[in-house]
Amino acid sequence: MSIVTGASPIQPEPQLAGQTVVVIGGSAGIGLETARLARAEGAKLVLAARNPERLQYVASELAALHSVAFDATDFERLAQFFGELPSTIDHVLVTGPGPCYAPLAEFDFQKARRDVEAHLFLPLQVARHAANKVRPGRTLLFMGGTPGRRYFMKFRTSCAIWSAAVSSAK
Ligand SMILES: NC(=O)c1ccc[n+]([C@@H]2O[C@H](COP(=O)([O-])OP(=O)(O)OC[C@H]3O[C@@H](n4cnc5c(N)ncnc54)[C@H](OP(=O)(O)O)[C@@H]3O)[C@@H](O)[C@H]2O)c1
Repeated sequence: MSIVTGASPIQPEPQLAGQTVVVIGGSAGIGLETARLARAEGAKLVLAARNPERLQYVASELAALHSVAFDATDFERLAQFFGELPSTIDHVLVTGPGPCYAPLAEFDFQKARRDVEAHLFLPLQVARHAANKVRPGRTLLFMGGTPGRRYFMKFRTSCAIWSAAVSSAK
């Protein structure tokens, strides 16, 4: 029996080689794992989240091009963040911030009001700032909540916000 050697298996081209991927919410959860996969596919990463220590740790682990710790619902800071990005980027993913949960009896309407405004306008703000930077045919991706789930005696703002955001984006 003979063993044939020499022909190396064909390696697929990294799908995101040379592309810049921005992840707002890139230090944990879905954003982090997406960033990790994008990096493995050759992307240059720009990561954002609020906690600077956690973000810095992840940014060095993934050899990110750039990382910025800020609250994405601070829209002046968000504008500055986009202003400081490279002149062209390829993909933007927004995962954080998540929805606000509370038992109805303890529901804080003032906090919910601030959350509604922040969550509803965040995708619109991101889309506006990204419009002149994202290359044609690339991606703006916003992570929604799970409005179909049932929460016993808990109220969440995300269902209403997500429905409103989807309607306003149409
Ligand atoms: N559609 C679905 O099936 C589904 C399933 C699971 C989750 N989700 C939704 O997806 C989103 C992300 O889930 P996850 O599990 O990845 O959450 P996670 O593990 O808590 O990660 C959230 C990320 O966003 C950052 N973040 C949170 N608030 C932020 C803010 N105001 N400004 C900037 N960055 C912020 C967090 O870092 P810092 O805390 O340091 O800011 C973290 O990096 C949530 O909205 C969740 O409801 C949807």
